[in-house]
Amino acid sequence: MYKIIEIVEICPKVCRFRIEASKLVKKAVAGQFVILRQHERGERIPMSIGGLDKENGILTVVIQEVGKTSASMNRMKAGDHFRDVVGPLGLPSHVEKFGRCVCIGGGLGIPPIAPIALALKEAGNQVETIIGARTKDLLIYQEELTAASHKLHIATDDGSFGTHGFVTTVLEQLMKDGTPIDNIMAIGPVPMMKAIAETTRAAGIKTWVSLNPIMVDGTGMCGACRVTVGGKTKFACVDGPDFDAHLVDFDEMTSRLKMYHKQEKIAYDKFLHSEECSYKDAKAQTGSETEA
Ligand SMILES: Cc1cc2nc3c(=O)[nH]c(=O)nc-3n(C[C@H](O)[C@H](O)[C@H](O)COP(=O)(O)OP(=O)(O)OC[C@H]3O[C@@H](n4cnc5c(N)ncnc54)[C@H](O)[C@@H]3O)c2cc1C
Ligand code: FES
Repeated sequence: MYKIIEIVEICPKVCRFRIEASKLVKKAVAGQFVILRQHERGERIPMSIGGLDKENGILTVVIQEVGKTSASMNRMKAGDHFRDVVGPLGLPSHVEKFGRCVCIGGGLGIPPIAPIALALKEAGNQVETIIGARTKDLLIYQEELTAASHKLHIATDDGSFGTHGFVTTVLEQLMKDGTPIDNIMAIGPVPMMKAIAETTRAAGIKTWVSLNPIMVDGTGMCGACRVTVGGKTKFACVDGPDFDAHLVDFDEMTSRLKMYHKQEKIAYDKFLHSEECSYKDAKAQTGSETEA
């Protein structure tokens, strides 16, 4: 059992969890992920590591409500326990002294970019981070990324904060500023990672993306997380999650991510209309601990 020390809603439908997991945290490094299970019969869902407090053995994950299990998890409270937190899983991100590094995070890709930016900074690189969101209210992790990078650039689609445009708008500006970029690491929605790959392809800048296909076991046995990279089949859970962006078949990944949308929508709607959901929402509003 893994105790939740703190849950904070950092923007609508997005919660930051701080979880006691000292053994896992001791071994984990930037770029890896974990698999969470809420209870004995719960679904296993993969989550990136959004922070590692090695001193206190605390793992940070940031969960966006997109379906049944994430909705149920985001209704947990401090003091509740996860049944399982499995990990660290996947290979660590490539961290060495490259020179000038650009880290890019979009949406839920922003939290996991923070430990990677910090590791690159600690390895002696000059780290600039770009984060993007649709609008100002959806920007998260600014404090953490300011600390983890030498410079933080912000872009919003609607121009409500920072550069008006996408993370690629800022990346194009940085590519033109005269100082060569030696390494790029990007995490975010698939269209964002694909656009970054196209932006850097002609310039031949080494670009890594962290892929988030559907996963089940997370140990290379089920094949659910199959992706095509450089014409070869790879399993993101054990061969990744980081891959060379210029070799990833993003279109195949997009279509595989949509495979179960119909079933996922049915399960989510059923949960939102369930007694479990109304009980947890009522408890959150009143703070009452009385059993339903
Ligand atoms: C390596 C990795 C790291 C991730 N990190 C984060 C993170 O830090 N924060 C976050 O909010 N989400 C993250 N995700 C996505 C997260 O695992 C899914 O959103 C979650 O499983 C949805 O479960 P659900 O039951 O709420 O929704 P579902 O109804 O199951 O699905 C809703 C959406 O989530 C996707 N999804 C469903 N199951 C999985 C699965 N097992 N693996 C991957 N995607 C799935 C579906 O394609 C669908 O678009 C990560 C995924 C991977 C593979
Ligand atoms: S999740 Fe099963 S092989 Fe990767």
